[in-house]
Amino acid sequence: MSYGLLKGKRGIIFGALDENSIAWKTAERVHEEGGSFVLTNAPIAMRMGTINQLAEKTGAKIIPADATSLEDLEKLVSESVEVLGGKLDFVLHSIGMSVNVRKGRAYTDQKYDWTAKGWDVSAGSFHKVMQVLYKQDAMNEWGSIVALSYMAAQRVFPDYNDMADNKAFLESIARSFGYFFGRDKNVRVNTISQSPTPTTAGKGVKGFDGFISYAEKMSPLGNASALDCADYTISLFSDLTRKVTLQNLFHDGGFSNMGVSDAVMQAFEEQQNS
Ligand SMILES: NC(=O)c1ccc[n+]([C@@H]2O[C@H](COP(=O)([O-])OP(=O)(O)OC[C@H]3O[C@@H](n4cnc5c(N)ncnc54)[C@H](O)[C@@H]3O)[C@@H](O)[C@H]2O)c1
Repeated sequence: MSYGLLKGKRGIIFGALDENSIAWKTAERVHEEGGSFVLTNAPIAMRMGTINQLAEKTGAKIIPADATSLEDLEKLVSESVEVLGGKLDFVLHSIGMSVNVRKGRAYTDQKYDWTAKGWDVSAGSFHKVMQVLYKQDAMNEWGSIVALSYMAAQRVFPDYNDMADNKAFLESIARSFGYFFGRDKNVRVNTISQSPTPTTAGKGVKGFDGFISYAEKMSPLGNASALDCADYTISLFSDLTRKVTLQNLFHDGGFSNMGVSDAVMQAFEEQQNS
């Protein structure tokens, strides 16, 4: 269902790799709500993914950019403003990657140049994106910037590895930069802390299948899907949430406030009685 919430709004969407990506679903929903945007991803992801199909479907231009490269980001932002015909109203940072996770390296046995690379891609890039937007004065007043996070920033999830630290850093950047963006440009900055979601990045985490079913059983509303996340993001891009900023917003069916659920208790009781 479309509400026309983003009619006339312009933005940049980072991180649509394939149709499972949270950014992909968000791009589709932004398009339905009347927004126009540039799609961007790392040059290597252009070859791996199917972003062209999304661009065709939504009438978006693709501008490749490695989100760790200031030079790429400067070009991306200035070209986007030009292509879209004015300053931006929304930006989605939907980027995450840990080399230690990818290569199966334990948290207690980090290879630190991999740790640094994962931090740069997953957290540092958010600062870089905002610094470029800020310096180029590329955001319209009352615009909205959103990045995606995960609850391992606050609680222990052993297999999430160094991504937990990257997400803690990401959430802190949202608050710190959000202050300056709010004070100087009336722009809001938030992170959404999303349920486990079956995407390329999500499924790359060890034990993902067990964990997603556990979260489903724990959450009174069940896990939030990628499409649910897209809907929530739309609300944060819309004019209906203009005074929400510096927040880490849990979007997880209630998981983050649970201790234990009947369904999880039952699974353990059954195991004990078998
Ligand atoms: N899937 C989950 O369970 C889950 C849960 C909570 C939060 N998140 C977060 O949601 C966001 C989106 O991930 P997703 O689950 O849609 O997976 P995804 O794999 O579809 O998206 C991750 C994206 O990051 C991009 N990327 C990696 N390195 C990059 C670089 N140097 N420059 C630009 N882009 C780069 C990838 O190309 C890809 O498009 C990430 O921040 C992720 O941590 C995911």
